[in-house]
Amino acid sequence: MVVDFRIMSIGKFARKLLGSNFYKIAKYYKEFFFHIPSFVEILPKFPANTTILDVGGGDGEVLNYVLSGNPTLKAVLIDPNDNIGGMISTSNRKRVTLYPGYSMQKYKESNISKGYQFVLISDVLHHIPEKDRDRFINELLGLCLKDSTLIIKDIQPGYVKSWLSLFSDIFISGDKSTKLISMEEITKKIRNKYPKVQVTDTGLQKKTPPNYCLLFSNFK
Ligand SMILES: C[S@@+](CC[C@H](N)C(=O)[O-])C[C@H]1O[C@@H](n2cnc3c(N)ncnc32)[C@H](O)[C@@H]1O
Repeated sequence: MVVDFRIMSIGKFARKLLGSNFYKIAKYYKEFFFHIPSFVEILPKFPANTTILDVGGGDGEVLNYVLSGNPTLKAVLIDPNDNIGGMISTSNRKRVTLYPGYSMQKYKESNISKGYQFVLISDVLHHIPEKDRDRFINELLGLCLKDSTLIIKDIQPGYVKSWLSLFSDIFISGDKSTKLISMEEITKKIRNKYPKVQVTDTGLQKKTPPNYCLLFSNFK
C-alpha cells in the first residue's frame, strides 16, 4: 500500500489502519500529554441532573471521564466532524446526545432546546487559526447563557510537552494551523467582551502541566 502523507495525515492513516484498535492506542498516546482523571478532579461539582454542552467534543474521551465521575450529569456533544463520540462508553452513551456535523452557529440557530448549565471546550481553541479566533470566541460566548459556567481546557505554551503536542498536532494530526493559546491570552479576549466575567484558575496546570483549565462565569 502506498500512502501519500501530503494528502492523508499520519493520524488519519493510523485510524484507517487500526480500525477499532485505534481508540486503544489513542488513549495511551493522549495519556502522555494529559492525565484526564486529574482534570475530572479539579472540575466544579455538577449539581444533580444538570447538562453540559461539549463544543468540539470529538471522540468524546474527555467527556466520557467527566460523565463517569458525575453519574447524574447529561451531555450534548457538538462537532463539525461527522465521526464523533467513538470513545464514549456504552454505559455513559445513553446520557449523551451527539450532533455530528454541527458548528456552533448551526447548533445555536437550530430548534434544539438549550437546557445546559455548563459549556466545555477542551483542546479546540489551539486548532482554530489565529485570524479566526476572535470570531470563534464570540460564537462560543454566544452559546454561554447568563448563568452558564464556561470550562476552557487548553495547553499553556512554554513547556517541552507543549512543543511536543504542537509538533504532534501539526505532523501527526496534520493540522498545520495549530498554535497554542495561553491562559492569559484567552482571559484577555473574554474580558474584552465581558469585563465583569469571573475567572477561576482550577490549578490543573500544577497537576498535569502544560494543561490548564479556567472557569468563566457571570456573563452579564
Ligand atoms: C483535539 S480535538 C479535541 C476533542 C475533545 N474536545 C478532546 O478534548 O479530546 C479538536 C476537536 O475540535 C473540533 N473542531 C475543529 N474546528 C472546530 C470548530 N470550528 N468548532 C467546533 N469544533 C471544532 C474538531 O472536529 C475536533 O473534534
